Amino acid sequence: MAVQMKGKSLATLNDLTREEIEQILKTSELLKLQLIRGQEHPVLKGKTLAMIFEKPSTRTRVSFEVGMWQLGGYALYLSSTDLQLGRGETIGDTARTLSRYVNGIMARVFAHQTILDLIEHSKVPVINGLSDFSHPCQGLADLFTVYEKKGRLEGLKLAYVGDGNNVAHSLIEGCSKVGMNIILACPKGYEPDSKVVSLGKKEAKKSGSEVKVTNDPKEAVKGADVIYTDVWASMGKEKEHSERVKILKPYQVNSRLVKGAKEDYIFMHCLPAHRGEEVTDEVADSKNSVIFDQAENRLHTQKALMALVM
Ligand code: CP
Ligand code: NVA
Repeated sequence: MAVQMKGKSLATLNDLTREEIEQILKTSELLKLQLIRGQEHPVLKGKTLAMIFEKPSTRTRVSFEVGMWQLGGYALYLSSTDLQLGRGETIGDTARTLSRYVNGIMARVFAHQTILDLIEHSKVPVINGLSDFSHPCQGLADLFTVYEKKGRLEGLKLAYVGDGNNVAHSLIEGCSKVGMNIILACPKGYEPDSKVVSLGKKEAKKSGSEVKVTNDPKEAVKGADVIYTDVWASMGKEKEHSERVKILKPYQVNSRLVKGAKEDYIFMHCLPAHRGEEVTDEVADSKNSVIFDQAENRLHTQKALMALVM
């Protein structure tokens, strides 16, 4: 039976049950198929989505905007500097006001607390389009992509190599819920948040999988089905870039490192990539790379999410 998700907000993947994640993936599959067949699906006809951006975006902005249009609705792009938010109006008042006009809010913010404040004061569902802590929409697209490529999620091994950042957090949450093993190789001091790891371990126990953190990239990729990396300096950390490049250099995903993975491993990256830093062209453009399918799947999974919660 379908799980009722109407009205639900999404700050992190921990807000979703395994059944809800599976429902989003199934709905994504259906919507993707309908799009390929040219079947219209205006299930959000007359609905509007406000999209608040504190940071730049290519994929998130375009996929939400196009997705909303394909669902028969309308999306408004709101740069935080153009809103009264940029002149000191509170998040609470912004959320209360927007709730009077729109049916959903998507926000890309610096501080994760801003997402939590939006959720607290909004009367309509709020979707996190990336915060410094979490990138749940990316995590959903990633699970869907792995499922499409491998035909299953349970029992697979995903190796995340690099900075233990927002994307890493969402992968820990997502993988542990659906029964995928995840091992993260990060330098000392750049490991994922310890609370995310311990909660992930608890979820993994329930789903029969494992969450592990190491400092050794070779150990992580050994026998992996999926190798995943992300930029070394996320948005907001630009000032630390040169220091991070030095520390994270041994964590580059290159042709030498990927030799340890399964022969049919897939390479994933949320994009944008800093080619030559966290990943070489050789790997990013190899036959194992699925990075643009992954980017495309942002569209299908977010449409599914919006259709279900709005
Ligand atoms: N992966 C992702 O969120 O990309 P954008 O920053 O382009 O939205
Ligand atoms: N970790 C990156 C992801 C970009 C989509 C960042 O936060 O900048």
